[in-house]
Amino acid sequence: MASNTPPSKTDRILIIGAGVFGLSIALELATRGYQNLTVLDRYPPPVPDGSSVDISRIIRSDYADPVYSQMAREALSGWKSDYAAHYHHSGFVMLSETPSNPYISQVLQIARAQGRRPLDEYPNANGLKPTYPSIQADLHALKAYHNPDGGWADAASSIRHLAHRCRLAGVSFITGPRGTVISLRKSPATQRVVGVTVRTGEHLPAAHVILATGAWSNLLVDLAHTASASGQPVGFIQLNDAEAESLRRFPVMINLTSGIFCFPPTPGTNVLKVARHSYGFATRMGGDGDGDGGREEVVVSAPKRDESNAVSAFLPQDADDALRQGLRQLVPQFAHYPWSNRRLCWYTDTPEGDFVVDWHPGLEGLFVATGGAGHAFKFLPVLGRYTADCFENCAPDNIRRKWRLRVPVGDEKVKIGDGSRAGPPLRTLTAAEQSKL
Ligand SMILES: Cc1cc2nc3c(=O)[nH]c(=O)nc-3n(C[C@H](O)[C@H](O)[C@H](O)COP(=O)(O)OP(=O)(O)OC[C@H]3O[C@@H](n4cnc5c(N)ncnc54)[C@H](O)[C@@H]3O)c2cc1C
Ligand SMILES: *[C@@H]1O[C@H](CO)[C@@H](O)[C@H](O)[C@H]1NC(C)=O
Repeated sequence: MASNTPPSKTDRILIIGAGVFGLSIALELATRGYQNLTVLDRYPPPVPDGSSVDISRIIRSDYADPVYSQMAREALSGWKSDYAAHYHHSGFVMLSETPSNPYISQVLQIARAQGRRPLDEYPNANGLKPTYPSIQADLHALKAYHNPDGGWADAASSIRHLAHRCRLAGVSFITGPRGTVISLRKSPATQRVVGVTVRTGEHLPAAHVILATGAWSNLLVDLAHTASASGQPVGFIQLNDAEAESLRRFPVMINLTSGIFCFPPTPGTNVLKVARHSYGFATRMGGDGDGDGGREEVVVSAPKRDESNAVSAFLPQDADDALRQGLRQLVPQFAHYPWSNRRLCWYTDTPEGDFVVDWHPGLEGLFVATGGAGHAFKFLPVLGRYTADCFENCAPDNIRRKWRLRVPVGDEKVKIGDGSRAGPPLRTLTAAEQSKL
């Protein structure tokens, strides 16, 4: 919506956030000839506590939605070409305890409607073992759906590569306190966004600001009706060479009944990762009324802004227990190994799991590109093309409608997602838990 005058190629554009949304739109806009692009972030990318980092992300094209399914297929060819050095073609398996899972039924129907190769179905998931002899778990009580055309990407290394491509294309970067935005600056007369104020107190002017701040977004602009942060548990286990070799023929697996998913060990470092795709944990940030011009008077769910959220290695006990239980079920042979690291990784959840990519309807000059809802990373090779089309107001109608920034109506429920989540409902961390983040 808004901003009918298309941005000019010489306008100064500030992009806040160097995750997959910020970097992919920065690279695409640079490619389209925009000459004055600056990415701001709290840390240099790969940002240690950002949502677009650590060792792995699932790359799948199996979706219960035709738009993401098509986009994911386009992205997969990018992973196999431009980003091949960061992509591992291990195969992808969805498991389900129930004989008919509505999300999976929809995935299968979309694949049929798009004339794609159907997923391999195993009524007894132990049938996967000839293909993946590294699986040692007993999976007889589960159904399996297998797509050999999928796998995982090294998240931090692909982000490093993407940031490098941005620099080569002429994008500037400002990180640290001078890249940390504490508030948007608005023209008092028109309410147009005219720049940002950063932690050093400086004002950085801009003709347009792109907000790609992921889970931190509500600290800057009120999007709580349509995008809200939830922490999801992740655990890492160090294996030795022989142990990692024993998992060489292991797919990416997600148990859709529990939400637990795990990856093959990363070649070279031998680190095994397990995580949960669930409703997660909320925080209560703000309410301090320190009057520094930010939105700190408002209480929102967000990670910390001024410190890294990746150093404490804290997980709530119930989340730690769930990851351990998931390991016993999926990789029992290593389930008792100590964590080499753990953390909460931050989703930006939206009502139906759709991204939020739109001109702000009330704040002229502000474009929002966020709402990854736990599934945006895989689109890295193509996301910038789609979001830059929205920025230039030339995206197809179905995309603009899907990713529109809604106006609040009052009784929104943010946590519905796309039907793929499992596990316990969203829980707000206690003050004691939050203090350990
Ligand atoms: C545990 C976990 C597992 C996931 N698994 C998958 C998967 O398997 N497949 C998949 O496709 N997707 C997956 N996702 C989702 C995907 O990773 C996210 O949707 C995506 O990374 C979100 O990118 P982003 O750019 O919105 O956020 P981020 O990468 O977090 O980028 C936002 C950036 O904004 C910066 N920032 C915030 N506020 C400010 C400020 N005030 N000033 C300056 N900078 C600021 C932050 O430092 C951060 O770097 C997963 C996510 C998590 C957490
Ligand atoms: C899958 O999750 C369900 C529900 O938590 C659990 O009962 C089952 O044992 C899990 N199976 C595997 C192999 O993860």
